[in-house]
Amino acid sequence: MNHFTSIKDVPNLQNLLQSAFEVKRSPFADTNLGFGRTLGLIFFNPSLRTRLSTQKAAQNLGLNAIVLNINEDGWKIETEDGVIMDGDKAEHIKDAAAVIGGYCDIIGIRSFATFKDRAKDYQDFVQSQFQKYAGVPIVSLESATRHPLQSFADLITIEEHKTTAKPKVVLTWAPHPKALPQAVANSFTEWMKVADVDLTITHPKGYELASEFSDGVKVEYDQTKAFEGADFVYAKNWSSYSDYGKVLHKELDWTVSADKMALTNNAKFMHCLPVRRNVVVADDVIDSANSLVLEQAKNRVVSVQTVLKGMLEGMI
Ligand code: CP
Repeated sequence: MNHFTSIKDVPNLQNLLQSAFEVKRSPFADTNLGFGRTLGLIFFNPSLRTRLSTQKAAQNLGLNAIVLNINEDGWKIETEDGVIMDGDKAEHIKDAAAVIGGYCDIIGIRSFATFKDRAKDYQDFVQSQFQKYAGVPIVSLESATRHPLQSFADLITIEEHKTTAKPKVVLTWAPHPKALPQAVANSFTEWMKVADVDLTITHPKGYELASEFSDGVKVEYDQTKAFEGADFVYAKNWSSYSDYGKVLHKELDWTVSADKMALTNNAKFMHCLPVRRNVVVADDVIDSANSLVLEQAKNRVVSVQTVLKGMLEGMI
């Protein structure tokens, strides 16, 4: 495995899943694999799960993890090419990426959409600069467009809890007071399209995902219809792609409630967390026995450990 930035970097999803189940069964089977190697974790944005799960996975593999909150603890980073750097940004991304690449064998990058320029966000500009200049494999810790370690953990969780060979999975938009990126929804869609599931996306008009993700996927604008017969309901907010970064609908009529869950096939509830309770999902749904949110969070260690193991095995 070279870079891990989307499902396109996974040559065989079934093999990756089998490897994940082995990692879950025996998390300490490879405690010397990373000996003498360094994993750099570079955060342009906040994190709880991604940071801690990746540090834990690194520890399980004997990898030394170093963490930098780049714009808070490091120099402010300039990302534009050819600018006269006479403002508050002291270091160019080209230099920072090359220097960090000199210290690390693998680099994880978290860099969200900025909502300033859709084309630049959808090029995953910061992550691609690291791919270009760091000279070592890059792992996405969530980019402007995708969150593959989350999607892989979500798929592991679905595989563990499905009761039919091809479950109905519903990705539902849910309200949120702030403009959030499309990354989790894009990535979940991309992974579910390759997995053996029947995927439906439901959202209000104006929240269509970019066609590179949604092409070939059923979209149902009536949330209650979409929930009928669902085995898994995955809730997530995202801002508009077409009216880029805008919040078009703030009312709580799309909140996932117990009444809506009653329309499903006793569906499991999923969310990547962090979640706004009683905005995205009602307390009695997320706290119910059908909620998988903590399973998903635990599987973040499994997903990243599996990916790092694959990368380290490729290096040896
Ligand atoms: N789900 C997720 O990526 O959580 P964090 O933003 O806390 O890392």
